[in-house]
Amino acid sequence: MYQDGDFRVSRRQPHGERWVLVTAPLTTHLIHPADSADAAWWRHAVIYQIYPRSWSDASGDGIGDLPGITARLQHLKDLGVDAVWFSPFYTSPQADAGYDVADYRDIDHLFGSLADADAMVAKIHELGLKVIVDLVPNHTSDEHAWFKAALAAGPGSPERDRYMFRDGKGADGSEPPNDWNSVFGGPGWTRVTEADGSLGQWYLHLFDTKQPDLNWDNEEVRAEFEAILRFWLDRGIDGFRVDVAHGLVKEPGLPDYDAELHILDGEIKDGSPRPPMWDQDGVHEVYRAWRKVLDSYGQPDRILCAEAWVRPQERAVRYVRPDEMHQAFNFDFLQTQWRAADLREVIQSSLEAADSVGAPSTWVLSNHDVVRHASRLGLPVGERRPNGIGPDDPQPDRELGLRRARAATTLMLSLPGGAYLYQGEELGLPDSTDMPAKYRQDPTFIRTKGKEIGRDGCRVPIPWEKDAPSFGFGPGAETWLPQPEVYGEYAVDQQVGVEGSTLELYRTVLRLRHERQLGTGGLQEFEGLGDDVVALVNTGQGEDTLVVANLGAEPVALPEGAEVLVASGELTDDGQVPTDTTVWARLA
Ligand code: NOJ
Repeated sequence: MYQDGDFRVSRRQPHGERWVLVTAPLTTHLIHPADSADAAWWRHAVIYQIYPRSWSDASGDGIGDLPGITARLQHLKDLGVDAVWFSPFYTSPQADAGYDVADYRDIDHLFGSLADADAMVAKIHELGLKVIVDLVPNHTSDEHAWFKAALAAGPGSPERDRYMFRDGKGADGSEPPNDWNSVFGGPGWTRVTEADGSLGQWYLHLFDTKQPDLNWDNEEVRAEFEAILRFWLDRGIDGFRVDVAHGLVKEPGLPDYDAELHILDGEIKDGSPRPPMWDQDGVHEVYRAWRKVLDSYGQPDRILCAEAWVRPQERAVRYVRPDEMHQAFNFDFLQTQWRAADLREVIQSSLEAADSVGAPSTWVLSNHDVVRHASRLGLPVGERRPNGIGPDDPQPDRELGLRRARAATTLMLSLPGGAYLYQGEELGLPDSTDMPAKYRQDPTFIRTKGKEIGRDGCRVPIPWEKDAPSFGFGPGAETWLPQPEVYGEYAVDQQVGVEGSTLELYRTVLRLRHERQLGTGGLQEFEGLGDDVVALVNTGQGEDTLVVANLGAEPVALPEGAEVLVASGELTDDGQVPTDTTVWARLA
């Protein structure tokens, strides 16, 4: 570990009209102590998200599938990740791309069969990787057997009690039970037609009409989900990513919430009253029970990862207390603006918050719900994160976005804890930002009548080969969302073995992260390289790694004796770190 003054840096500083070289000592302070070298796998794993519709298509119908995935798994081994998380592949009418599950124990025919899933899981394990599946407990599909039974059984029945049915307000019950909206836009309640043809009760859906919310006060619901956990654990999977983990339990009485509902854009403001549908204390009991189920499977650990859009961080880490989940996505990191001070602050506060409950922090920059970071970081700094980018919106600067994305990832993968990658980011893939409206499928776009562009732009099928139909995604030329022409340039076969390509950068960074054991390292902050720089030392389990991300306008010199291990972009002729570049270095 470094002491103040152990290292000195020479840098050019303005001095009147001229620039002069000054040498200054660097000071450091510890922001996170090292984990033990043999910490459980999930405390430092890099987990790659596959969105099954869009990774690889074997059947040729233009939609990805499990046999297609199995055929290309070597890509992940070569990339150097530790685990794969699959967005839902269960039986589903696909009203929300599979986050509307009709049968939690079967595979949708679009993707294959349970036998295909077993073969895929076996292959992943053979490669030495872990498998995480998506669990969607907040709501089912309206085509789930339970919901159909609830409609048939009528008001007051045990079948209805599994969901959030209520009578409407007003003399004839024609007004919704409260004022909640759907996250996807429009009302959060839908009125049903009863078996006798009359207009009847209303059911709550925080998302699409086709995604009725379950009632987590109902014991049968709790028991069913524990059984679903066991079903997949018995098939050998290593963990679950838990969808809308902060939404299961609602405030009793379902009080009005006089505001628009958001989950995916981080608009739950610090200090505002806690919304009655999010982050209720009662939800933690559910995860304590699940943890017991997972722990009963013994070693190596099977894990739970929370998708919980919760602020502030002190509330968010309650999901990863020792007897609850193992990880939670760090959406604060994803939402941080490209400013050194903001990044320093979020890195420090994330680690502090996670350390306060003994959990590892996690890091993430992209997923299937947000504009890819190669595009997001090509938008002006300081603006609100858009929910999709359409042809009529200001377009991101593709070159700048990629440069910053590479720097951001190189910074992220130097940090201790777990990290999540989203398919295609290893290619530097931008969002599709000029997709015509007729192709769009995200319910957000449909329910807001196009006011919100939504998430289709980050869900476009992956390019594997530049000169093949659908860029090698599948045997057919058509894909369920159209691939922009420019995707050919990003294809895997254009990048493998090409020095300086984004794919080779990811491979190098992941290899070094593993070799230098950065996932379990301690973290020190280096001061003295300037306000526009994020400078850290990951102490690993042995040799230290200096990490310098330069977000300022001027190149930054590395401390004397630093030997560069990897850089997200070219250095200046005299070996300095240019703007929007991250470097890892060994310190002599
Ligand atoms: C979060 C998922 O990531 C998103 O894709 C989905 O639309 C909602 N939850 C509803 O399940």
